[in-house]
Amino acid sequence: MKDHLTIVKHPLIQHKLTMMRQKDTTTAVFRQLLREISQLLAYEVTRELPMTTRTIDTPLCPMDAPVLDGRKLALISILRAGNGLLDGMLELIPSARVGFVGLYRDEATLQPVQYYYKVPDHLGERLVIAVDPMLATGNSSAAAIDLLKASGATNIRFLCLLAAPEGVARMKEAHPDVPIVTAALDERLNEKGYIVPGLGDAGDRMFGTK
Ligand code: URA
Repeated sequence: MKDHLTIVKHPLIQHKLTMMRQKDTTTAVFRQLLREISQLLAYEVTRELPMTTRTIDTPLCPMDAPVLDGRKLALISILRAGNGLLDGMLELIPSARVGFVGLYRDEATLQPVQYYYKVPDHLGERLVIAVDPMLATGNSSAAAIDLLKASGATNIRFLCLLAAPEGVARMKEAHPDVPIVTAALDERLNEKGYIVPGLGDAGDRMFGTK
């Protein structure tokens, strides 16, 4: 991808996102909308996957037909909200390999601390798509990408639902080589680190917690 930030302004995505933002949208509908949007975003983020051809037989004749080239791509969910994007993407790309990165914020240092990390092998030979619905401060996203690079990943994309300008700037500074694909770039972060206007806490809204 050429641009560091791609905002996918497809009408279906924008309409569904508006429904997700509404505060009275139920957990079940929120989850379903996220699943649907994740498939539309997956379509965009995989647009330039390398292709090759394979000789197949149609009922009429042999043909050299296009197929995906190279190793299966790796989807990396940044816990816990990343799982909401992961589910829909796996419906579209069922053979993708899957990894998980768990980070929490140390309240004293405010730095992300790793509590879980499990990723597919051969990351350096795969397109790696890290997913987290909310790119807010960008600190945990940048730390997750640090870990993926330390595991050998070189071709990484970051997929989110909403981004704040602060998070985009942080990612651009830390990982200028990692393109970001999002459904919207919101105005700002508030003093508690929430994206405004945003949609609230994505994890709480998709899992029905508070
Ligand atoms: N994480 C969320 O779930 N929501 C925000 O607004 C910011 C970070």
